[in-house]
Amino acid sequence: MSRTAPRPEGLAAAPAWDREIAGLSLTPALFGRFQRLIHQETGIWLGDSKSALLCGRLSRRLRVLQIPTLAQYYDLVTQLDQHQERVSMIDAITTNETRFFRDPRHFEFLAARAVPRWRAQAQRGGRSKTIRLWSAGCSSGEEPYSLAMLFRRHLPAEQGWNVSILATDLSTRMLAQARAGIYSLTKSANIPEPLLKDYMLKGKSQHEGQMKVMPEIQAMVDFRKLNLIQDPYPADAHFDVILCRNVLIYFDLQCKQKTIERLTRCLARSGLLFVGQAENLSTIRSQLKILAPAVYAREGEHGVY
Ligand SMILES: C[S@@+](CC[C@H](N)C(=O)[O-])C[C@H]1O[C@@H](n2cnc3c(N)ncnc32)[C@H](O)[C@@H]1O
Repeated sequence: MSRTAPRPEGLAAAPAWDREIAGLSLTPALFGRFQRLIHQETGIWLGDSKSALLCGRLSRRLRVLQIPTLAQYYDLVTQLDQHQERVSMIDAITTNETRFFRDPRHFEFLAARAVPRWRAQAQRGGRSKTIRLWSAGCSSGEEPYSLAMLFRRHLPAEQGWNVSILATDLSTRMLAQARAGIYSLTKSANIPEPLLKDYMLKGKSQHEGQMKVMPEIQAMVDFRKLNLIQDPYPADAHFDVILCRNVLIYFDLQCKQKTIERLTRCLARSGLLFVGQAENLSTIRSQLKILAPAVYAREGEHGVY
């Protein structure tokens, strides 16, 4: 196979659908239909200023499918039997930015305030040594793996602790990356050195420049697809910690309200809910009390931290 010579822009050799995509247009009415569809599927509300962003993010889907207009794409993606294409559309439009140990104050809170309390309680026989965490909106896995490394270090299995992490997202693409647990070494900067040394494998030869999460850390995390707006939440577990960070920011008020209510019901007694630093819950009706920036516990159960 030989590489094709670069084609100067504008030359007629481009296939018709490619040329048309370059000038994708979206009428306000069609944008409104996409807005409602995406909201219905994900809870994400794209504001009116996001029209260009939507064009940009969907243009790759159109190119792959060789569909020339967004109107035709809308007709396709709304067909009942096009579930898989709706999944691809969601993958294309979600914002998946994340980092290891993002918002380090949250991890410091867990290590300095939650862990000592759980240890003391377990010593008194006041709680079991089983800890359940949920990373809701886990993107490519950096958040749940950060939790796993932290708790593997602070509550080791050798001392009888059993820490399990449920990590969920609606993006199948992100979940596949997360399960693989392979990252560029450039992402290691925020991982505390001792954890990096003990829990990440550095790639050699063809894996140079990459790192892989150690199997003992991967085994602590169960990745599952879960749409926070449409799917049932885990019914059987009450979580000691739920992280739902930088997810609600894209939801409209009603979806935010409902999600916070449902997450609160999944908290164990004195369980902690962490949201993103920019996600103010002051406009939400809830039974939550703030303990630290973007850290909440249920009213009446917060005094213990
Ligand atoms: C910006 S990332 C945040 C990742 C991580 N929590 C963090 O703070 O670094 C937001 C993630 O939320 C996911 N998401 C958006 N809407 C969702 C929904 N309705 N249900 C589940 N996940 C959703 C996206 O796919 C994306 O991976």
